[in-house]
Amino acid sequence: MNKFKETIDFLKKQGIENPEIGIVLGTGLGKLVNSIEIIKTIDYKEIPHFPLSTVESHAGKLIYGVIKGKKVLAMQGRFHYYEGYSLQEVTYPIRIMKMLKIKYLLLSNAAGATNTDFKKGSLMLLDDHINFLPDNPLRGKHYDEFGPRFPDMSQPYSKFLNDKIKKIAQRENIVLHEGVYAVMAGPNLETRAEYRYLIDSGADVVGMSTVPEVIVANQMSLPCAAVTVITDECDPDNLKPVSLEEILKVAGKGENFLVKIFVALIEEL
Ligand code: HPA
Repeated sequence: MNKFKETIDFLKKQGIENPEIGIVLGTGLGKLVNSIEIIKTIDYKEIPHFPLSTVESHAGKLIYGVIKGKKVLAMQGRFHYYEGYSLQEVTYPIRIMKMLKIKYLLLSNAAGATNTDFKKGSLMLLDDHINFLPDNPLRGKHYDEFGPRFPDMSQPYSKFLNDKIKKIAQRENIVLHEGVYAVMAGPNLETRAEYRYLIDSGADVVGMSTVPEVIVANQMSLPCAAVTVITDECDPDNLKPVSLEEILKVAGKGENFLVKIFVALIEEL
């Protein structure tokens, strides 16, 4: 708890006061930053007790600023289980943002579609998820200050936020699927047999993030919403090799729609 206090004190000293909305930008999805009137940018490496981002495609910056008159705190780059962090480390910034009193958490990620109706470059709103990580961010010592030991997960994504997002997508003519995100540990992509297994499990897309953050947000009663940019199609009967370069390229294309949705949503909150 002292650790959390030191991080919070540092950020407040840097002028981060009363952010209303927390944002997590996923792999190749940093463009939203261009829509922020930036007040302060802080490298993760300067922040006491923050893990360091080790993936090259992730910038590793905390950005405080304003979008459509609302104060936002955006993570450009997140922490992943495959980087070697514990899930407590992965979710540390989410707890910090909640302690800085954000009211809503918006997350984005890049993922592959196991649902063959979903095409790359399109978006999916998370309605639900499956945690296939061999760990849980709530495992271990429990602190009552964070919320319940056994949080309910019957509605992990805010209906209030999701309804708004769906209306915005409709209004803006943006293709927005809705479905189930499965998280795998990574960092390798999946085999054909694993994709078959994921399809049978009920997953529509598969990625390597988001779920730990959403579990922690739910424990802390922080309403959250998450949007996937589909970067590749994971049809086990017709699987082509994909590279990170390709994933980033497609993410950059779908990203413009994501930015439009998040900016419009923030304006309405
Ligand atoms: N699996 C498959 N394809 C992907 C992933 C993943 O975890 N992330 C982005 N594309």
